[in-house]
Amino acid sequence: MAPAKLWSFLFLLSLACTVSAGRANPDHSAGALPQGQAERMIKALNLIPGTSSSSSSDGSGDDLLDGPRLQERAIKLDVVGDAGISTEELGQYAGYFKLARTHAAKMFYFFFESRGNKTDDPVVLWMTGGPGCASELALFYENGPFKITDNQTLVWNDYGWDKVSNIIFVDQPVGTGFSYSTDIRDIRHNEEGVGEDMYDFFQAFFEAHPEYAKNKFFVTGESYAGHYVPAVAARLHKALKKEEGVPVNLKGFAIGNGLTQPDIQYGAYADYALDMNLITTTDHANVMKFYPACEAAIKLCGPKGTIGCIAALVVCQSIFSAILIITGNINYYDVRKECQGALCYDFSNLDTFMNNETTREALGVGNRKFVACSPLVHEAMIVDWMKNLEKGIPELLEDGIELLVYAGEFDLICNWLGNSRWVSAMEWSGQMGYARAVWEEFQVDGKEAGLTKGYGSLQFLKVHDAGHMVPMDQPKNSLEMLYRWTRGKSLSEKPSAATLIKEIRSKEDSYSKSA
Ligand SMILES: *[C@@H]1O[C@H](CO)[C@@H](O)[C@H](O)[C@H]1NC(C)=O
Ligand SMILES: *[C@@H]1O[C@H](CO)[C@@H](O)[C@H](O)[C@H]1NC(C)=O
Ligand SMILES: *[C@@H]1O[C@H](CO)[C@@H](O)[C@H](O)[C@H]1NC(C)=O
Repeated sequence: MAPAKLWSFLFLLSLACTVSAGRANPDHSAGALPQGQAERMIKALNLIPGTSSSSSSDGSGDDLLDGPRLQERAIKLDVVGDAGISTEELGQYAGYFKLARTHAAKMFYFFFESRGNKTDDPVVLWMTGGPGCASELALFYENGPFKITDNQTLVWNDYGWDKVSNIIFVDQPVGTGFSYSTDIRDIRHNEEGVGEDMYDFFQAFFEAHPEYAKNKFFVTGESYAGHYVPAVAARLHKALKKEEGVPVNLKGFAIGNGLTQPDIQYGAYADYALDMNLITTTDHANVMKFYPACEAAIKLCGPKGTIGCIAALVVCQSIFSAILIITGNINYYDVRKECQGALCYDFSNLDTFMNNETTREALGVGNRKFVACSPLVHEAMIVDWMKNLEKGIPELLEDGIELLVYAGEFDLICNWLGNSRWVSAMEWSGQMGYARAVWEEFQVDGKEAGLTKGYGSLQFLKVHDAGHMVPMDQPKNSLEMLYRWTRGKSLSEKPSAATLIKEIRSKEDSYSKSA
C-alpha cells in the first residue's frame, strides 16, 4: 500500500475537486465553526505574518485607506524564445488591489495585454481553484504568456491565451499566492465573498484601464473555480442589470474540469472509474453504497448550510477515497499517470521562481512569501465545497451569457462524466434542445481534438488526451477552444484547414511587418 493511503481518509478531506492544498492537518476536525477554525489555523501555521492579537484592533489596517486602490506596475521579465510579436509595446503588469469591504486585504494579479490585437481582443479573467491555489499555477504551467524551465528561465508560450485575449490572472481568495491580509477577518468563507471581491476588483481595474471596458469580457477558471466562475459571473451580471458601477461587458463564462454541482458529480465518480477500468463492477457496487448517505448529506447542507456542509464533505469524500484505495497511487488529475509529490505533479520550479528575490523585486511584492496552495484558504472555504453553484447559471443562460463547460477526459477528480451530467440535468429553456443535440467533433488542424455538444448559449467540450489541466496537456487545442468560443463560434465548426491558427499567424505577420 502506498504511504499516502495510510492517512488517505483525512488527507482526502482536503482534496475536493481541485488541485488540492496538498497538506492535511489532522487537527481541524469537522465541527468547529469556520471562523474559529481559520483562526486556529492561522495561529498554528503563521500564514499571515504580522497577524497578532493587536492587528485586528481598529480594522483600518495597513495603508488601506490611503492612495489609489489599484497599485500596478509594468513588468519586464527576462523571457527567452520567440514572443511571436515585437514586445517593445507589449504591456505586461503586476499589481495589488486594495479590497473594499475588508479590513486590510490586498489582492495580487497579473495583467497581460494580448499578443494578438489588444484593441479588439476580449478581456479574460482566469482563476485557479484549490480553493487556495494560486493562479500562477496556470500562468506558468498552462495558459500564460510564458513557462518556467528547469533552469529557472522563462520561455514564451506559443499557445498562451494572451495570444488571442487580454488576460488577467488573479490570486484569490485573499491568502492565496501573493494576495494577503494582515487581518484574519478578511479570510473568505463562501462564494458571496468571492463574487464581491472580484466585482470590486473589476470596478477598479476598468477605471484604471478604461480603454478595455468596451471589450468583450469572459470569466474563466479551473477545478474549484467551478464554484468561483458562476459566482463571479452572476455578481457581474447582477451589477449590469442594476446598472451598478462601471459596466463590465460580460459575454460569457467557462469552467474547466470544475466542481460545480457536487450532488451529481459525486454520484459520477464510481461510474467514471468503472468506465475507465480503474475499478471492477464489484468495486463499483461497493463504492456506490456510500452515495445515498452523500446525497442525503448534501440535501441537508443546502444553500445556507454550515456544519451540515462540512458533514456532507466528509461523507461524500468517502466515495473518492474508496476509489483511490482501490486504484493505488494514481494521479487523480490524470489517471494515465502516477501521483508524484503533494499536488501529484512537480510544481517546485514555480515556488523557486516566485520566491526568488529578482522575481519578487520585479513584481513589487516585497518580502512576501509565495504560497502555491494555501492550506489556510483551503480550510477556510470548507463550508462552501458542497454548495451547488449550478443554481445561478440558468438565469445567465436565459440572458444570453455564453457558458462553456470543458473537461479533459483523463481527469478523475473533476471528471468529464460528472460535468456532462450536471450540464444535462440543468433546468433552463434550452434543456431539451441540449438533450437532443448530437455529439460532434471538435477539430483542430483537421484532427479530432475532442467531442462537443451545444445548444443556444451553452456548449460542452470533452477534450481528448488531456487530464485536469487542459491547457497544460493540450495547449494548442485549448487555445483554439478559447478563440472559437470567445468569438461566438461553435466549437463543432469544421474549419476548412486550421483557420484559427492561420488567423493568428496572419495577425502576427501583420504585427511583425508593422513592428
Ligand atoms: C486591430 O483591429 C482593429 C479593428 O479590427 C484594426 O483597426 C487595427 O489595425 C488592429 N490592430 C492591429 C495591431 O492589428
Ligand atoms: C534554459 O532552458 C531554456 C529552454 O530549455 C534554454 O533555451 C536556455 O538556453 C537554458 N539556459 C541555460 C542558462 O541553460
Ligand atoms: C534568482 O534569479 C536570478 C535571475 O534569474 C538568478 O541570477 C539568481 O541566482 C536567483 N537567486 C537565487 C537565490 O536562486
